[in-house]
Amino acid sequence: MNILLTGGAGYIGSHTALSLIDKGHSVTVVDNLITGNKTLIPAKAKYYDFDIADESSIQKIIKENKFHMAMHFAGLTRVDESIKYPEKYQLHNFEKSKIFFSSCIKNNLKNIIFSSSAGVYGNSNSDNLTEDSELKPINPYANSKYKIENLLIEISKKEKLNYTILRYFNVAGADKNNRSGLISKSSSNLIKVLCEVVNKKREKIIINGNDYKTKDGTAVRDFIHVTDIADMHVLAANNLLKNGTSNIYNCGYGNGYSVKEVIAEMENIIKNKLQVEIGPRRPNDIAVSIANSDKFKKEFNWKPRFNNLNYILRSALEWEKIN
Ligand SMILES: NC(=O)c1ccc[n+]([C@@H]2O[C@H](COP(=O)([O-])OP(=O)(O)OC[C@H]3O[C@@H](n4cnc5c(N)ncnc54)[C@H](O)[C@@H]3O)[C@@H](O)[C@H]2O)c1
Repeated sequence: MNILLTGGAGYIGSHTALSLIDKGHSVTVVDNLITGNKTLIPAKAKYYDFDIADESSIQKIIKENKFHMAMHFAGLTRVDESIKYPEKYQLHNFEKSKIFFSSCIKNNLKNIIFSSSAGVYGNSNSDNLTEDSELKPINPYANSKYKIENLLIEISKKEKLNYTILRYFNVAGADKNNRSGLISKSSSNLIKVLCEVVNKKREKIIINGNDYKTKDGTAVRDFIHVTDIADMHVLAANNLLKNGTSNIYNCGYGNGYSVKEVIAEMENIIKNKLQVEIGPRRPNDIAVSIANSDKFKKEFNWKPRFNNLNYILRSALEWEKIN
């Protein structure tokens, strides 16, 4: 396959570019480096430093290349920032995606895989979220994902566009050969923060609330290794090309770990105690969010390779050590 991949200098896009290239596919990355890092783009990928909303540049490369599909990762990803600056998320995520899709369609690029988020389920608070669970995004970031999903669905009715929407749960870990990983200076990602504490880049880990109705009072999430997410894109891409059917899938393991369990597993790995402090809940945070990914498993005979919290943490830690 020949793939146009937006956001390939970012965390998940770069891992997906690696998975595609490892399997012999061609990848062209478009990324304006607003949050990405050039060093994460695989050497074998073609790279263009464009904004996805730069219509003439995007249309030019689509015309010049016979892409089979676009994988659209580019966007802003911070829930806290989106609450502070909702218009920024409307512009950078929704409006720019709309312009990007229009450039694709005008040039007959009509297979699109889109990075959505479990955030679209809002405060559904469930240990068994299916693709049919109610959608009620509760922050501007999740709302931008919800609006882009709906936009794709609407366009597909008029333009013969085929889409696959992948709703990621909590993505973590790093490439097993350390070719990519999460680079972020002010991440609120639990596992990233833990790795920074272990590597003495931060003093302590703050638990945001310990009074949830969960087994130990801390929030429970479904952590999925980034390489499994990347591989899911390759499966979804093959299917989209072969069958041309549009669909939506959850991407998680269906396991929930509490914040305290994740910290305990990290302490187990490093054989040491970490400095932990209990802080207040984050606004609008939910107790439990766990995927039901039966649909993807069944349709693609998907068997995750890295469904193991210990491995997820060790791979993230290895990456943190060299970055
Ligand atoms: N990380 C997660 O746990 C998670 C969970 C659910 C969904 N997602 C979604 O997955 C996608 C990738 O997330 P990530 O964690 O890799 O984020 P990231 O910030 O590491 O990567 C995003 C990339 O997109 C680029 N970009 C942003 N706006 C752009 C624009 N207008 N033009 C060109 N490039 C642009 C950035 O420079 C960056 O390289 C995002 O759409 C995000 O919302 C991530």
